[in-house]
Amino acid sequence: MPTILAIESSCDETSAALITHGKVLNNIIASQADHVKYGGVVPELASRAHQRNIVVVVDEAMRKAGIKNEDLDAVAVTMGPGLMGSLLVGVSFAKGLAVSLNIPLLEVNHMHAHVLSHFIFDDHLKENALPEFPFLCLTVSGGHTQLVVVRDFLDMEIIGETQDDAAGEAFDKAAKIMGLPYPGGPLVDRYAQEGDASRFKFPDTEMPGLDFSFSGIKTAFLYFIRDGKEKDSHFVEHNLNDICASIQHKIVDMLLSRLEKACRQTGIKNVAIAGGVSANSGLRKELKKRGEKLRWQMHIPDFQYCTDNAAMIAMVAHIKYRNGDFAAPDCAPVANLRFETR
Ligand code: KG4
Ligand code: ZN
Repeated sequence: MPTILAIESSCDETSAALITHGKVLNNIIASQADHVKYGGVVPELASRAHQRNIVVVVDEAMRKAGIKNEDLDAVAVTMGPGLMGSLLVGVSFAKGLAVSLNIPLLEVNHMHAHVLSHFIFDDHLKENALPEFPFLCLTVSGGHTQLVVVRDFLDMEIIGETQDDAAGEAFDKAAKIMGLPYPGGPLVDRYAQEGDASRFKFPDTEMPGLDFSFSGIKTAFLYFIRDGKEKDSHFVEHNLNDICASIQHKIVDMLLSRLEKACRQTGIKNVAIAGGVSANSGLRKELKKRGEKLRWQMHIPDFQYCTDNAAMIAMVAHIKYRNGDFAAPDCAPVANLRFETR
């Protein structure tokens, strides 16, 4: 079984992981603090930070696992979707290393990896935790919101997705409107835990089929805060917990109502969530509540595998290596790479 070094650099996390015999040995992540003062990821700063971090992160992963360059059978890297400058840093590094060691390169789609994060086998794996095929995966990240039918490791189909903002963006933009620092999602989650979710109401945006739209709720939220501040200049500070709980409740409801609809339409009762927003405690709690009522088999990833990480890249790489699915020497990153495999 192969030993593979996996690299993730699609957005603002530089990460490296090692996998051997299908088991993830470690998952080193350097998060970039450079963007906080700008209120969002600045692409040029992200690629420079990846350049600073990548050697350090890879070195730490190799050292901690006790693995030397000559032990590696392949190098895997995120090829997209993501920020072009960020992807280029990871891909150039991975290509260079693979060529110099004369070993194959494996290209991984970031969204594919979020879905397969459920199969990461590490020291903490709970034996009965693996989803059975087919399952429905709601992938909710900072750039994507997708409903995916997962028939096998390499056989997936997107049956619904956002037509504008992603769920993570909805959280981050709501936080920004309230004056909270980037990334706001985890902060909204934290304040929401102390708040009353029924206090403020926000509109849903109906979309045809199983698609999502979050731009309407963002605009409604902007006006809601503006109107609140007209009456009380400290409106946000005075009501922070209730505002966070109410907006989180609405975003979670928008996500889970589509997931329920997808389950009804496909007849699938095996359900998973993945991506950064799957770390949200409100989403995790509400999924468990609804899922128990509807008798779903539910799969919720460990916190460390929700947000961007190289362990999930390693998982896809392991499966692609088994299939001999190696990258061509002239492969290049694609910012809006899609991952449907059928
Ligand atoms: O998957 P991810 O790490 O990166 C992308 O591929 O985009 O997702 C990042 C997103 C950000 O929008 C962040 O605010 C959101 O996930 N996020 C959360 C939470 N933790 C991360 N949103 C709500 N609640 C959380 N606890
Ligand atoms: Zn991601």
